[in-house]
Amino acid sequence: MAATSNPPAAAMPRHLAIIMDGNGRWARQRFLPRPFGHREGVKAVRRVVNACVDRGIEILTLFAFSSENWRRPAWEVNLLMKLFLISLRREISALQQNKVRIRFIGERSAFADSLQAAIHAAETATANNTAITLVIAANYGGRWDIVQAARQLAREVQQGLLTPEQITAEQFDRRLSLHDLPEPDLFIRTGSEQRISNFLLWQLAYTELYFTDRLWPDFDAADLDRACAAFAQRQRRFGQTGEQVEQVEQVERGRSA
Ligand code: IPE
Ligand code: IPE
Ligand code: MG
Repeated sequence: MAATSNPPAAAMPRHLAIIMDGNGRWARQRFLPRPFGHREGVKAVRRVVNACVDRGIEILTLFAFSSENWRRPAWEVNLLMKLFLISLRREISALQQNKVRIRFIGERSAFADSLQAAIHAAETATANNTAITLVIAANYGGRWDIVQAARQLAREVQQGLLTPEQITAEQFDRRLSLHDLPEPDLFIRTGSEQRISNFLLWQLAYTELYFTDRLWPDFDAADLDRACAAFAQRQRRFGQTGEQVEQVEQVERGRSA
């Protein structure tokens, strides 16, 4: 096939990870209390999940609540927990219909029993869906993830199942929350801030980072397309030189011609 102007399939991220930020500011801009921003943020989640399915993105990981978000005023934390529970119960049939497999990462034992049960029910009910894997990071922290992996490894060494020398990056990776999924190709943070805020620290090592001023409740399919277009322009080198990467791409182009 002759070269076309269509970007190669590899130019689309397989795994997209998003820090959904700016709900509070969205509400404040409208002289509304913060909860209005969070409620609107849930609508944006629905919109973006569907847009990702349409674009063939295989995995979408969303940062919903960080391990540091407990520091917010109790009323806001309570509201967010209620919103999680309501949304999860309300969305389950839509998830099924759209063949979304939902999964949670983070320390869920801190949640109320009702929320833990809803999480478990949603994961079980959607386990065999194949359109997209939606990972919700809730009470998640990148440092927590690394620490729990280290703890598991230490336990295994103590039990004589592993020697310290056998601890490699691969072994470490296997004990992290996203061990069975490819690392994110593209990271998006909405709401202007340019920081990771303890999201996927280990897994973002070679992820392309994209920051936008758009506030999460306003984020839509066109914004997603802009981020994907920026991603398609990046050259991922993984430590190699640009020339090396171009050579491999040339060979691959030749093969598919
Ligand atoms: C992100 O929006 C949602 C959560 C962290 C739960 P924020 O609530 O952080 O919104 P801003 O940053 O205050 O605008
Ligand atoms: C990051 O947003 C966490 C989530 C979006 C869930 P924050 O709004 O909590 O991050 P900081 O505090 O501005 O770094
Ligand atoms: Mg914020």
